[in-house]
Amino acid sequence: MKFFIDTAHVDHIQEVASWGILDGCTTNPTLISKEKGGGSFQDVLKQICDIVQGPVSAEVVAPNAEGMIKEGKTLAKISEHIVVKIPMSIEGLKAMSGLKAEGIRTNCTLVFSANQAMMAVAAGAAFISPFIGRLDDVGHLGMDLVRDLMLAFDNYEVETELLVASVRNPTHVTDAMLAGADIVTVPYQVMYQMAKHPLTDIGIEKFLEDWKKLGATI
Ligand code: G3P
Repeated sequence: MKFFIDTAHVDHIQEVASWGILDGCTTNPTLISKEKGGGSFQDVLKQICDIVQGPVSAEVVAPNAEGMIKEGKTLAKISEHIVVKIPMSIEGLKAMSGLKAEGIRTNCTLVFSANQAMMAVAAGAAFISPFIGRLDDVGHLGMDLVRDLMLAFDNYEVETELLVASVRNPTHVTDAMLAGADIVTVPYQVMYQMAKHPLTDIGIEKFLEDWKKLGATI
C-alpha cells in the first residue's frame, strides 16, 4: 500500500516526508484555501512537488471541459509530479479523456459510486478517489464502496489506481489496506495516530529504564 498525505500544509508534508514513508500528496481547493499566506497556488504546489517524490494532485475549478483542460495543462507545467484532479461529472469525463490524449495524468475526485468510478476509468483517469468519510457522514459504509471497486477493477483487470480519500481515522486506513486498495491519502493528524500505540510507548519506556540500570553504552 502506498501512503499519500492529504494536505497542502508544506511544513506537515516536509515532516512526514522525513519519516521515509511518503509516496505522494493530494490537495483540493478547501485544503489550499487553509494555507493562504504561503504564496500563490502555483508557488505552494511547486514547493510540495519539490518535497514529494511522487504524484501530487492539484484540482481544477473550471465549470466545463474546455476550461478544465486549459487549467490542467497549466498545472501540469509546474512539475512532472503533478496529477490533475478532476471532479466526477460529464464535463469532468470529457476533460479526463482530453488530458489523457495530451499525456497528462488525472485523478478523478468526488467519486461516490462504482458506476462513476468505471466511467472515469473508461475516460482514462490514472487514479480514482472514492470519498469514504463523506459516505459515512450520510449513513453509508464508505468502505463498502472500496470493496466493490476492488472487485470491479479485478473483474476487468483495470490498471487505474484506487486512491482511498476522505480518510478520517486510522481504522479507515486499516480497512482500506485489508480491502487491497492501492493508495490511501491520510490527513497529517491521522498519520500520527497510525504511528502510535500505547503498548509501544510503555515498551520503550521499560527498555530504557532497564538499560539505565545496566549502565552500559552502545
Ligand atoms: O482527499 C479528499 C479529502 O481531502 C476530503 O476529505 O474530510 O473533507 O471529506 P474530507
